[in-house]
Amino acid sequence: MKAVVLHRHGGVDALRYQDFPEPLCSKDEVLVNVHACSVNRLDVWVRKGLAGREVRFPHILGCDISGYLTSDVDHPNLKMKKGSKVVVYPMIHCGSCRFCRIGKESRCISSNASIIGGFSSWHGGYAEYLKVPVRNIIPLESYLSMEEAASINIAYLTAYSMIKYAMRLMRDINGYDDVTIATTTAAVDYLANTNTVNDNLSLLVYGAGSGIGVASVQFAKVMGYKVIATVGSQDKLEKAYALGCDLVIDRSKQDIVREVMKFTMGEGVDLVIDHVGIWDTSIKCLKKGSGIMAVCGATASEHTNVEVRPFYNKLALIFGAYLGSKKELVEMLRFMQEHNIRPVIDSVFALKDAALAHTKMEMNNHFGKIVIKVASI
Ligand SMILES: NC(=O)c1ccc[n+]([C@@H]2O[C@H](COP(=O)([O-])OP(=O)(O)OC[C@H]3O[C@@H](n4cnc5c(N)ncnc54)[C@H](OP(=O)(O)O)[C@@H]3O)[C@@H](O)[C@H]2O)c1
Ligand SMILES: [Zn+2]
Repeated sequence: MKAVVLHRHGGVDALRYQDFPEPLCSKDEVLVNVHACSVNRLDVWVRKGLAGREVRFPHILGCDISGYLTSDVDHPNLKMKKGSKVVVYPMIHCGSCRFCRIGKESRCISSNASIIGGFSSWHGGYAEYLKVPVRNIIPLESYLSMEEAASINIAYLTAYSMIKYAMRLMRDINGYDDVTIATTTAAVDYLANTNTVNDNLSLLVYGAGSGIGVASVQFAKVMGYKVIATVGSQDKLEKAYALGCDLVIDRSKQDIVREVMKFTMGEGVDLVIDHVGIWDTSIKCLKKGSGIMAVCGATASEHTNVEVRPFYNKLALIFGAYLGSKKELVEMLRFMQEHNIRPVIDSVFALKDAALAHTKMEMNNHFGKIVIKVASI
């Protein structure tokens, strides 16, 4: 099969388009004919290498995958026909630890837990074929195209899961406990449809055009938030407003804290999505008494300096986020369909041009997901 293979860490020249042996599956694995795989920052980190994180070479990148089953699957946990459309739940999980048993697979505590194509012994989707555990297959019965379906399994899932979790925390902090909410989907719907609650909610996310950024803006808007986002250059301003942002801050020219405070009349926001690692800025932008900061990345910095006193004086809350569960992925697909949300796609590259796709991401001039289309038709 054709694949883009990494034989060492390095620049984009380390991505080699070549022939590679097709994977062989055991009885609990299935072979997926990859249609598309979107690029995530994780792919760039793995290509370059991160201190203390290992991969076994040769390695194939790519964690955000859509494709077709290459044979009928008749497994106790899954019965599907050859050719069925699927997406791949990206987290390799043990299925038996205390978190996997309650359907919180992204919290899996097994030493083998990893993201397919990431810092993992599992090869990813920059290839025509991919083998994955049966338990990672999610049937795709959705209105999304296969390119769109390859854009939602990492950034969209993480954004959805973070906002949903933050809303559950807000419910407690703001004393909405009197409302009986049977399921978390109902909680999201409840908050999305209850104007008295949501009218005043505000969210700040960095990088309106990043994977996490576009997804957060789209989800937060249908949930009724006032959305503030940053961009790194003037040309992204219009796109960010067109996506639905209520305020866009050009971080190359404007001071983020000052603009957020001006827009929120000095109050600050209810929720900051920080995938960048600028905690000091994030904490300064939080509303006193109830502000929540969801952290899922460190694009700008692995280390951060925070002033401790303002943090606890505000009664701020910080939580770390890592993907979401399989159930949330299915729920999110339904939520997107119900609210007519389609992932924003910046560009589509052929598999042999994976290096160009990485260059585009590293130049930060994308707005939305960069997709590698593996299928030739
Ligand atoms: N924990 C998880 O499960 C999870 C899941 C998905 C992603 N992540 C992480 O989240 C991060 C984003 O991933 P992604 O795929 O969405 O990346 P991406 O599309 O490449 O977006 C990164 C964007 O961040 C913005 N940015 C960079 N430095 C900044 C700074 N100092 N201040 C404000 N904005 C800045 C840039 O936009 P502008 O130049 O326009 O400002 C850039 O385009 C990565 O670190 C990734 O590893 C984590
Ligand atoms: Zn587990």
